[in-house]
Amino acid sequence: MDWTTIDACRTSTELPRPVEIRGWIRTRRDSKGGFSFLEVNDGTSLGNLQVVAPAELENYAEEIQKLTAGCSVVVQGELVESPAKGQATELHANSVRVIGRCDGETYPLQKKRHSFEKLREWSHLRARTNTLGAVMRVRNRISQSIHRFFDDEGFNYLHTPIITASDCEGAGEMFRVTTLNLEKLAGSNRPFDTKQDFFQKPTHLTVSGQLEAETYATALSRVYTFGPTFRAENSNTSRHLAEFWMVEPEAAFYDLHDNMQLAERFLKRVFSDCLSHCGEDMEFFNERIEKGKIDQLKSVIEKPFEHMTYTDAVERLLACDEKFEYPVEWGTDLQAEHERYLTSVVGGPVILTDYPSSIKPFYMRVSDDGKTVAAMDVLVPGVGEIIGGSQREERLDVLQRRMAEGGLDESEYWWYVDLRRYGTVPHAGFGLGLERAVQYVTGMANIRDVIPFPRTPGNAEF
Ligand code: 4AD
Ligand code: MG
Repeated sequence: MDWTTIDACRTSTELPRPVEIRGWIRTRRDSKGGFSFLEVNDGTSLGNLQVVAPAELENYAEEIQKLTAGCSVVVQGELVESPAKGQATELHANSVRVIGRCDGETYPLQKKRHSFEKLREWSHLRARTNTLGAVMRVRNRISQSIHRFFDDEGFNYLHTPIITASDCEGAGEMFRVTTLNLEKLAGSNRPFDTKQDFFQKPTHLTVSGQLEAETYATALSRVYTFGPTFRAENSNTSRHLAEFWMVEPEAAFYDLHDNMQLAERFLKRVFSDCLSHCGEDMEFFNERIEKGKIDQLKSVIEKPFEHMTYTDAVERLLACDEKFEYPVEWGTDLQAEHERYLTSVVGGPVILTDYPSSIKPFYMRVSDDGKTVAAMDVLVPGVGEIIGGSQREERLDVLQRRMAEGGLDESEYWWYVDLRRYGTVPHAGFGLGLERAVQYVTGMANIRDVIPFPRTPGNAEF
C-alpha cells in the first residue's frame, strides 16, 4: 500500500483510495457512536489528518483508546471525502498500529498552550507544535529559495571556511578556536602560547565569509556563501544570536547601485516563494502571529524599495517627536529603535546608504566626499536591519590607508590586499541574516524561535 504524507492526503482529489500514513497523535476524541477520532500530524503540513478508528478494530480498547498526544502510529485505511467542516478528507482506518507510546504524565506538549519562552526549554520537542513546525517549514522554504535565486542569477555557491584567522567586521567579537589538549598543556592559568596553538596562530570561528568570497568573486565573477557565522557579542536581544546563518553574495564589476538592485530582487523572490509555497503556514502566521502579514508582504513585493542616505535618516530622526533611548547625531551608529522608526515612517523596507566611514569596516569603498562609504543596510518593519552590505574598496592605496587607520596589520591580510594588486575590479556584496529574514516573513518576535537550536549568551543546553 502507498505510504503517503499527511500533506498529500489532505489535498488529495483521488478519492476514495487506500493509503498508509505515519505520524504522531495530536489529540484523541472518543465518540459515543463506537469510534475514535484521532488527529494525526507528520510535520508535512500544519493541519492534521483526521483518522476515524472504529471500535471493531482488534486493538481498539487495548491500545487505540489509550492513545495520547505524542504517541507514534502507522495507520492504514481508506482516504475519503470528509463530511465534516474544515477538512476536505479523512481517513477511515482498517488498522492503527501503535509504534511508540508517550507518557502523558511527563510529555511536556499537552493540550495546554505554552509560551514560546517555556517551549525553548524543550528545543528537542518544540518542532512538534504548530508554530515551530510552521516556522521551520518557512525557514526551509527561504533556504531553498535563496539557492534557487542565486543559481538563476548565475552565482556559484561557494563554501568559505568556518575556522579563520581574519576578522572581517573588525569588531573583535569572535570565538577563539583551540584544542582541549593544548589548553591542558598550557595549564589553566598560563597565558596562551600561540606557538602551541593547533594552527600556530590565533584562529576563531568566522563572523562572515565575505573576505574569502571576495577572492572567489574576483575569479568566478559571481559567488555566494550560505553558512553558519558566529558573533561573541554579549547581546541579549530579540534579534541577536551567537550563531546564525548568513547568505553572502559577492559580485565582481558591481557597484552599490547594482548591489541594491540585487538585494531588492532577492528579497522579493524569497518573500513571493514563501507566499506561493507555504500558503497554509503563512495564513497561520497572518492569523495568529502578525495580523496583515500576507498583505504586507504582497505590497512589499509590488512596490520599489525606498532609498535614503544615512545623512537624511539622521535629519529625520532629529526632526521627529519620538523619544529615543539613544540620542542620534551624525556619526553615531543607528540603533534598533531608530531603524524601527524609519521603517514605520516609510511604511515598508528602506535601503539606507552612505554611512560615515568612521562607523563602518575597513573594506567599504570610500566615497568622493571622504567622509562616507558606499554602504547599504536594508531595514524592514518590525525587525530593523536584515541586510548589511557595501561596494568594496578596490583601490590599493585607499585600502592600505583605511587598514592603517583602523589599526589592522596589513601583513595578516596580505592575500586580501593582493586582490587589489592583481587585476583589481569594482565589486560589491551583502549579507542577509537568515534568521532575521525568517522573523520578518513569519512575524515571530524573538529570533530564538526561528532557529532550531538557538545559541545565545548562557544558552547551549545541547
Ligand atoms: O551587517 P553585518 O555584520 O555584515 C557583514 O557581516 C558583512 N560582512 C556582510 C557582507 O557584506 N557580506 O551582518 C549582515 C547581516 C545583518 O544585516 C543581520 O541580518 C545579520 O547578518 N546579523 C545577525 N543576525 C543574528 N544575530 C546576530 N548577532 C547578527 N549579526 C548580524
Ligand atoms: Mg550590519
